[in-house]
Amino acid sequence: MIATINLPRILRVGAGASREVATTLQQLGLSRPLLVTDPFMVQCGYAQRIGDTLAAAAVEYGQFSDSVPDPTTDSIDAGLSSLRAGDYDCLLALGGGSAIDTAKAIAVMHSRPGALCDYKVPHSLDSGLPVIAIPTTAGTGSEVTRAAVITDSASSEKMLCMGLGLMPVAALVDYELTLTMPYRLTADTGLDSLCHALEAYVSRKANAFTDGIALAAMSAIHRHIRSACAQPDNIEAREAMMLAATQGGMAFSNASVTLIHGMSRPIGGLFHVPHGLSNAMLLPEVTAWSVEHASERYAMAARAMGLAGNRDTDAVALDKLVQGLRQLNADLSVPTPEEYGIDESSWHSALPRMAEQALASGSPANNPRVPDVEQIIGLYQRVWKAPDTPACR
Ligand SMILES: NC(=O)c1ccc[n+]([C@@H]2O[C@H](COP(=O)([O-])OP(=O)(O)OC[C@H]3O[C@@H](n4cnc5c(N)ncnc54)[C@H](O)[C@@H]3O)[C@@H](O)[C@H]2O)c1
Ligand SMILES: [Fe+2]
Repeated sequence: MIATINLPRILRVGAGASREVATTLQQLGLSRPLLVTDPFMVQCGYAQRIGDTLAAAAVEYGQFSDSVPDPTTDSIDAGLSSLRAGDYDCLLALGGGSAIDTAKAIAVMHSRPGALCDYKVPHSLDSGLPVIAIPTTAGTGSEVTRAAVITDSASSEKMLCMGLGLMPVAALVDYELTLTMPYRLTADTGLDSLCHALEAYVSRKANAFTDGIALAAMSAIHRHIRSACAQPDNIEAREAMMLAATQGGMAFSNASVTLIHGMSRPIGGLFHVPHGLSNAMLLPEVTAWSVEHASERYAMAARAMGLAGNRDTDAVALDKLVQGLRQLNADLSVPTPEEYGIDESSWHSALPRMAEQALASGSPANNPRVPDVEQIIGLYQRVWKAPDTPACR
């Protein structure tokens, strides 16, 4: 089998990497960036820091600071107006997955007619203005993926958009920018990364290139996520989590996510649950439902995470994996949808629509066990309540 791998042209990884923004632009022959970011990045001074670095290199730039969490087509339209109002040759994305996805969506829509909803999967967005991504969460991995997730303001559908035009040309991966992340954001974004790595590893599109980085990411995340949450200044944990987030992005962008992400997007779109948290709500139960259909792979994942030992049989490792993921959710105070405050009747009446959207995204088709609509509805019903019952398989 031939695996096709897409990555950014330049990756700079480590403390201070974000300060190399002007050098990176120069290397790529770019000189007129629009900085795309959000109000928090302005308030905390990160945007100014990037601006100062650009000014010191005499790079003139414009700024769009109105990216919103879980970006919508309305917010993309506002950014597009800023982009089209200037003579920009690239975008600099500074922030979490939302700011990066905003910049990517604006970049590909710059010279396309119509609306973004015309271009969601299975359409492929293969061209656009270059994007240089500077992530501040660890994280979505969006800095190295050819994906963007944008909510359709009209229908509340969280649309998956894919294509080479969405792959940043460069990523400056600087864990120092994550030191300000509060507990909940650290936990949710770290669990998003764990899902990326695990889903990529068990995906039907997994390949030898993505396997190694997915296992490395799972190992690092499970080892460091609790300390990154509990000790925000723990440099070792922050650095490991940032690298693992980028590796998770590389893995899933080249092997696909599976059922967890497929089912997670409708929860985010309809009930405004942060992306990492909706993944985390699903992680243990979707894993329990899937494990026996790729038992060797899930057992290997359990060993990589340190949840099972080399002497454990695969069957034992699978049980330890599911229990370990439940324990991780408990330790990181991941709520069920019910505990999150979602209205029970709204949840249950939305399930058929959510299941349809999940299947339409294509992600569930890459799961080791491929569900139908009824099975997805059953899984949504299962995660509604605290999962203290034995794993359902
Ligand atoms: N394109 C992809 O490959 C991909 C992959 C996974 C998720 N996503 C998408 O990314 C979005 C989620 O991104 P996210 O989880 O990174 O969060 P986010 O970008 O939505 O940010 C959440 C909040 O955290 C703040 N924040 C960001 N960095 C911070 C820091 N260092 N310190 C303090 N606060 C900070 C932001 O200002 C924002 O208010 C979702 O829309 C999701 O669907 C995209
Ligand atoms: Fe994700």
